[in-house]
Amino acid sequence: MSAINQIEPRKVTVHVLQEMKNKGVKISMITAYDYSMARLVDNAKIDVILVGDSAANVMAGYQTTLPITLEEMIYHAASVVRATKRALVVVDLPFGTYQGNSKQALASAIKIMKETEANAVKLEGGVEISESIERILSAGIPVVGHLGLTPQSINKFGTYSVRATEKQEAEKLLEDANFLQKAGCCAIVLEKVPAFLAEKVAKTLTIPVIGIGAGSKVDGQVLVLHDMLGITQGFSPRFLRRYNHLGEEITNSVKQYISDVKNKTFPNEEEQY
Ligand code: KIV
Repeated sequence: MSAINQIEPRKVTVHVLQEMKNKGVKISMITAYDYSMARLVDNAKIDVILVGDSAANVMAGYQTTLPITLEEMIYHAASVVRATKRALVVVDLPFGTYQGNSKQALASAIKIMKETEANAVKLEGGVEISESIERILSAGIPVVGHLGLTPQSINKFGTYSVRATEKQEAEKLLEDANFLQKAGCCAIVLEKVPAFLAEKVAKTLTIPVIGIGAGSKVDGQVLVLHDMLGITQGFSPRFLRRYNHLGEEITNSVKQYISDVKNKTFPNEEEQY
């Protein structure tokens, strides 16, 4: 039996993710923000659906992920959970809902878990948010860490370019990854870091390391759904593989519909009562 078929859970849990890492089965993760898309990706048997705060960019058209609110994330996450039977659903804690203090972080995580019935939350950062992570974990809520390019810190970074290319930042990232594992995180997302560093993190840690722009030597991959389907325009980083050109297909379909309406060829005899 091939490695990919060794694990066929009815419902993916954080324990299943760990089993995948232990057995060398790669983890597939993708974003979704609404019921219809979540149903499609869950039917395709994706392992993890991330209700990312990239919803701020993809769904709401903001330049950064910072403006999205807890209530908006809850709306997206609840829609995704209603559609999902198999995948583990992870929800991003949005900017400003966990950095203040650990009490605020716990309240935000509990609100998400109660109002969406998702399976885990994701937070950006390492040692500097240790109290928040530990407090959320103490309530029995699985936490996924996120290191490397952490888009909520864009105003500190100044650009969305690759992180941890310098020794000091790479060492800090390794330190943070070790901290997140020790604290009890169930997985870590590593975004836009050199492939050799990501490989080192994945080899050092016993918990799954899921990469985006982090090379192939990690335990799984995540992409933003609308990017890989070719719906988003004007965004083509090196790491992004486009599996479709749905943007063009949607525009062409709508153009055809407009033409049919204008030409009075829609609806026809069969399409009326
Ligand atoms: O918000 C998001 O979509 C993410 C992924 C890019 C990992 O955090």
